[in-house]
Amino acid sequence: MEIFIDTAKLEEIEQAYSYGILDGVTTNPSLVKKIVDDLKSKGKDVSVESYIKKILKLARGTPVSLEVIGTTYKEMVEEGKRLFKKFNPVAKNVYVKIPVNPAFEEDSENMFDGIKAIKTLTKARIPINCTLIFTPEQALMAAKAGASFVSPFAGRIDDDIRKRVGVKFEKSDYFPASGWEKSGKILEDNGVVSGVDLVWQCVEIFRTYNIKTKVLAASIRNARQTREVALAGADIATLPFYVIKEMLTHYKTIEGMKSFTADVVPEYAKIVKG
Ligand code: E4P
Repeated sequence: MEIFIDTAKLEEIEQAYSYGILDGVTTNPSLVKKIVDDLKSKGKDVSVESYIKKILKLARGTPVSLEVIGTTYKEMVEEGKRLFKKFNPVAKNVYVKIPVNPAFEEDSENMFDGIKAIKTLTKARIPINCTLIFTPEQALMAAKAGASFVSPFAGRIDDDIRKRVGVKFEKSDYFPASGWEKSGKILEDNGVVSGVDLVWQCVEIFRTYNIKTKVLAASIRNARQTREVALAGADIATLPFYVIKEMLTHYKTIEGMKSFTADVVPEYAKIVKG
């Protein structure tokens, strides 16, 4: 499974690439807002354009997703083309992020505009990451329109189910892949019992029909959920920096390191250190 970092913070991207395990970057308007707010609060100059260019250069050779902000077919196609024209020449690694359905209300006129924009931009050879996927059928539609990646939002499904149960939780808390039971019934969202289940269902459909679109598990909350989307067959998982760090952590590893280090005898150290 490929690992992307889900952030617009340059320092995090730089650090994660230095580990040698990173395969790409995803951003969204909320992540960009975070860095702009952060820079402003430090009294620093905010040039989002040059900031994005730095991210693209750091990630050279791996995809970086940049999201449109429009909600109509026309806007999304124009913005997708503009983003690609402006930023792809920097390192030839731009993927345009398009929402699967940009409507603010059900049955709005523009509900198919995301799908239509994906089709048009794909024809123009602009690779697309289709975002805000909450059902396997949305993933199927996006794949049919030509998206290179579809992004099911695993964590937000779990958050939603937990909110319905009324349990208090931290964003990084584990949510069981097999779902949450209440009064003897597993809670579900339209036949999806967890974020991992959503990813698994997308993967199963794509495998059944030999669909080449990659399943990019997004909105990941912790290391165990990352493991579970890997077991579910996700092609990619995009992770916040804290999850990337958490993936290397186990208290027994720390304990083992301490005891091995304490047991080093000088004769052995001399051989190893030379
Ligand atoms: C992915 O591309 C999304 O931007 C992201 O994973 C959303 O994560 P969140 O639910 O933690 O905001």
